[in-house]
Amino acid sequence: MAYLKARASRTTMIERQFPITRMRRMRKDNFSRRLMRETTLTTNDLIYPMFVIEGFNQRQPVKSMPGVERLSIDLLVKEAQELFDLGIPMMAIFPVPDADCKSLEAEEAYNPDGLAQRAIRAIKEAVPEMGVMTDVALDPFTTHGQDGIIDENGYVLNDDTIDVLMQQALSHAEAGADVIGPSDMMDGRIIEIRELLEEHGHIHTRIMAYSAKYASSFYGPFRDAVGSAGNLGKADKYTYQMDPANSNEALHEVAMDLNEGADMVMVKPGLPYLDIVYRIKTEFKAPTFVYHVSGEYAMLKAAAHNGWINEQAVVLETLLSCKRAGADGILTYYAKEAAIWLKEAKA
Ligand code: PBG
Repeated sequence: MAYLKARASRTTMIERQFPITRMRRMRKDNFSRRLMRETTLTTNDLIYPMFVIEGFNQRQPVKSMPGVERLSIDLLVKEAQELFDLGIPMMAIFPVPDADCKSLEAEEAYNPDGLAQRAIRAIKEAVPEMGVMTDVALDPFTTHGQDGIIDENGYVLNDDTIDVLMQQALSHAEAGADVIGPSDMMDGRIIEIRELLEEHGHIHTRIMAYSAKYASSFYGPFRDAVGSAGNLGKADKYTYQMDPANSNEALHEVAMDLNEGADMVMVKPGLPYLDIVYRIKTEFKAPTFVYHVSGEYAMLKAAAHNGWINEQAVVLETLLSCKRAGADGILTYYAKEAAIWLKEAKA
């Protein structure tokens, strides 16, 4: 007590707050910790990205993403029902087409009977209330692995690419996709896609723009998963994806995409880019999402596999941090596991 009095009688205002203000009072018990909690993570926040392959009853593990498998459509549909039962609002489909589908002009991207289009139809037929999101970009369909059409120097041509993206987006909407996710980073593609969808009566099809998509090295395992890594070789995506050094540019991108008719915007990758999420949410107050990408997933899995971290605790903390930064939802390969953990915690 003598010590406390001595502390309290010291002269600065800051010191005199103590012990009147004890930050630890509210932290002392579970009830008061729960009452003052600002952010919550629920299964409603999760979007599950999944890889789809040709064939029947096929599952292929992705080496650099332990726990992630490429599934044939029949298995994907079964999984969709499970995810729906867990309460996951939406899955995002990434097709891994056979190599002989790839071409310079990526015609397979808008094949009404392509792998993605068939997968969308199958899921919406079996589990109609499951949200289905698609990826609009050409990288799974080009022989060179770039997201667009290239010229003789390998430069990705903006306007030529948009023509193909529009057809791809329309084919997804016609197949029944709920949300179109242009991840290509071409300029002006949102307005073109939006207008085409409106013209064809798809007025309810939502667009989640990959607005601030960085030229990140964290996408490596994804490129293994969709098999574009080999096609891409030593090439990079610096002429269209954003420089990781920039942050004002992300606001400019988001402003444009919202103006062009995007319903939702996204930041990608996740954890290393939460400052961007925060700035975008603060500035625009629009539905904002973040993609916890393949490399981030791989890092956590590797550390967990080695017993170096408590996987469940670290993953839930990571996803919560995305929410705290301002994200309304998170695309994550951990969606299913997180949903199971959240359910167990509630039970
Ligand atoms: C392709 C696309 C990529 C990802 C989503 N869509 C890879 C890329 O841009 O090279 C990355 C997702 C991940 O790493 O989890 N347009």
